[in-house]
Amino acid sequence: MAELGHEVLGVDVDDSKIAALSAGTVPFYEPGLPEVLQRNLESGRLSFSTNYARAAEFAHVHFLGVGTPQRHGSYAADMTYVRAVIEELVPMLKGDHVIFGKSTVPVGTAAKLQELADSLAPEGTSVEIAWNPEFLREGYAVKDTITPDRIVLGVRGGESAAEEIAREVYAQPLEQDTPFLVTDLQTAELVKVAANAFLATKISFINAVSEICEITGGDVVALADAIGHDDRIGRKFLGAGLGFGGGCLPKDIRAFMARAGELGADQALTFLREVDAINMRRRDRTVDLAKRAFNGSLLGHRVTVLGCAFKPNSDDVRDSPALSVAGSLSLGGAAVTVYDPQGMDNARKVFPTLNYADSAHAALEDAELVILATEWQEFRELDPEATGKLVASRRIIDGRNVLDVSAWQSAGWIIEALGRSVNNLA
Ligand SMILES: NC(=O)c1ccc[n+]([C@@H]2O[C@H](COP(=O)([O-])OP(=O)(O)OC[C@H]3O[C@@H](n4cnc5c(N)ncnc54)[C@H](O)[C@@H]3O)[C@@H](O)[C@H]2O)c1
Repeated sequence: MAELGHEVLGVDVDDSKIAALSAGTVPFYEPGLPEVLQRNLESGRLSFSTNYARAAEFAHVHFLGVGTPQRHGSYAADMTYVRAVIEELVPMLKGDHVIFGKSTVPVGTAAKLQELADSLAPEGTSVEIAWNPEFLREGYAVKDTITPDRIVLGVRGGESAAEEIAREVYAQPLEQDTPFLVTDLQTAELVKVAANAFLATKISFINAVSEICEITGGDVVALADAIGHDDRIGRKFLGAGLGFGGGCLPKDIRAFMARAGELGADQALTFLREVDAINMRRRDRTVDLAKRAFNGSLLGHRVTVLGCAFKPNSDDVRDSPALSVAGSLSLGGAAVTVYDPQGMDNARKVFPTLNYADSAHAALEDAELVILATEWQEFRELDPEATGKLVASRRIIDGRNVLDVSAWQSAGWIIEALGRSVNNLA
């Protein structure tokens, strides 16, 4: 927002994040963001605080983007943090305000928050809740924010100032003809979860086909290329492999199912259970392939897992397929060494018992089996011959279908790729 020319105060309840940001350090890995932060701190347009009273005084336009994680012991989203923002901010406001919700929330949330805000707003103060779902991709967050592929805005019926304010806030992308879709609140909330449910379904679709390819000896990559030429299908998100993870897709499809259940429409989304199950089976399949490489027992075997972030260009390990595989192998008795260019600090907090190497080179030394679990460019570019000199045994599982199978085979590797030639590890 500061980069788009606005005066911005960023608020978080986490003191350490606010201290880091104020000092010009982004407390997570996001390419291009450190430069944006630095530039806007220096211009004086951007500052940070943990103080809600300051936020209430600072602005009349607020963006709410706190976490909506999966609730413990349930599929539903935990709305505690979102509600806490309204409960803390609204009683301090004076004048006319709009709060744009950006968090991914169950349909119906905005209307409920409007009621909550109305009950908390001081005499003479008006607070409008609008919903402006966020579509940025981690790893491309700066680009996706400055030049979004669309802007969706949900506004309440009756009197509303939100659209006019949003047009001012997003004047720069709107000048570049970014599609701007104004809907009711519930449609805007649903747009986000429907988009994520579709993407998850597309990945699980190809991974389900992958299971059949494995049995029949088919090649899921060639198949995806072939069906991807059909415009109606498209090749994107047909990357068969270890499947999806992260802080969004898994919890969003579960929250969508939970909400459908509350609405009496659980049948409408039961297919998402299968989408989730197919996705989780890919992790089990990878662990099984590793076991098969050692004739059924992982005990004491040295396995190197390349990658622990849920995807490349991110340090996010939330529900990471790579880390889940590394953890399962370790629990199965393997001596697991992990290397990831960015994700290791976060991974250490979740799985302190794995060995973390300082480089891919160090991680590969003496490995009996290598698993490529996150498709960082560095791993895609590994040279089969040079890598072969580091390991104890030339065996690799390509969990992301990014390696050139024949090049690795020519260098004497036994390579297994999910959904492709399963026979050479048996
Ligand atoms: N990460 C993504 O790529 C992405 C993309 C689109 C949408 N979303 C949605 O955006 C929301 C946030 O996701 P995230 O990945 O940034 O989560 P996150 O957990 O990384 O960050 C949430 C932040 O909110 C802060 N917070 C909690 N309570 C607060 C309060 N009362 N006041 C101020 N700050 C508070 C936390 O300290 C934390 O820093 C979620 O609803 C998510 O589904 C995320």
